[in-house]
Amino acid sequence: MSTTTLSKPRVMAGMRPTGGLHLGHLEGVLTQWVSFCDTADAYFEIADLHAYTTGYEHPQTIRDARNEMVAVWLAAGVDPKKSTIFLQSAVPEITELHTLLSMITPVSWLERVPTWKGQQEELGAHVATYGFLGYPLLQACDIAIVRGERVPVGRDQVAHLEFGREVVRRFNHLYGDGQEVLVEAQPTLTEFAEVPGTDGRKMSKSYNNAILLADDEETTTKKVRSMITDPQKIRRGDPGRPEVCPLFAMWKFVNPLKTDAIAEGCRSGALGCVADKTDFAEQLNAYLRPIRERLATFRSDPAQVEAIVADGTARTREVAHAVMTDVKRAMKLI
Ligand code: TRP
Repeated sequence: MSTTTLSKPRVMAGMRPTGGLHLGHLEGVLTQWVSFCDTADAYFEIADLHAYTTGYEHPQTIRDARNEMVAVWLAAGVDPKKSTIFLQSAVPEITELHTLLSMITPVSWLERVPTWKGQQEELGAHVATYGFLGYPLLQACDIAIVRGERVPVGRDQVAHLEFGREVVRRFNHLYGDGQEVLVEAQPTLTEFAEVPGTDGRKMSKSYNNAILLADDEETTTKKVRSMITDPQKIRRGDPGRPEVCPLFAMWKFVNPLKTDAIAEGCRSGALGCVADKTDFAEQLNAYLRPIRERLATFRSDPAQVEAIVADGTARTREVAHAVMTDVKRAMKLI
């Protein structure tokens, strides 16, 4: 019933296996996950059940994306020896906790989570399901089942964590008898600059503007060539504005040491966009090459990926079982 006494904080993070991991995931999420392997007691979840809340019509797509996503995590440097990678659907304690917490979760709390209303409008009637409404509760269970203390998330997920804390507080109030049976998790906001896509909007698979980690070098080069730059810089010699250029924003990730020189060349007009793109495409491919090579290795060895997930899932279930015992005792179920 006690919270963790380890000196490293328990970090819990999840990602839905929807496919198409891109440069934005690498810079915004995975780089941070890699550092958590050293600084935290980290749990990384393949949130496949969450993928079903919107993608239930395409189970094979979710299944195919599962190992591929883990292969990308590993290729990016997430170290399974220093962290725990687990499969949500293979930890039945999560769905069990979800059922128990659903008894005390007011529907109105779920209805007022902003993502629910927004996504209903965006995705239409097919997400008008019980499961989709319960998405934030399932997420709260993911975190609570491993006694997660810190959850790295983007701004859009802060409301989910706030909701999760409210449910945990309600549980502890109703059943805790003065004890903190379930842990309230705090968000760790990821304050990175957003990676722009090839069209200047936020990089996203659904906008079709993403440079995928799984793209080959030729595709990457083509995508870089198609990128928009400063629309006022028509030809070499025209002075450009690096601050409005998505290509410039990407340079910051790929080679921060070069950004001063590039900004100067762009502003003075000495550097043209075509030359800049050629140079960038080469550097980007060089930057991604080791990751892509490791990805190819993990892809060619699905048994290794599955063994890593099976091992992490077994370790997660041990923690999860202990938490469920506490929960059931508190609720007088056992
Ligand atoms: N909802 C998260 C997202 O869309 C994914 C997720 C599922 C998650 N379970 C989690 C994130 C638990 C953090 C903790 O990005």
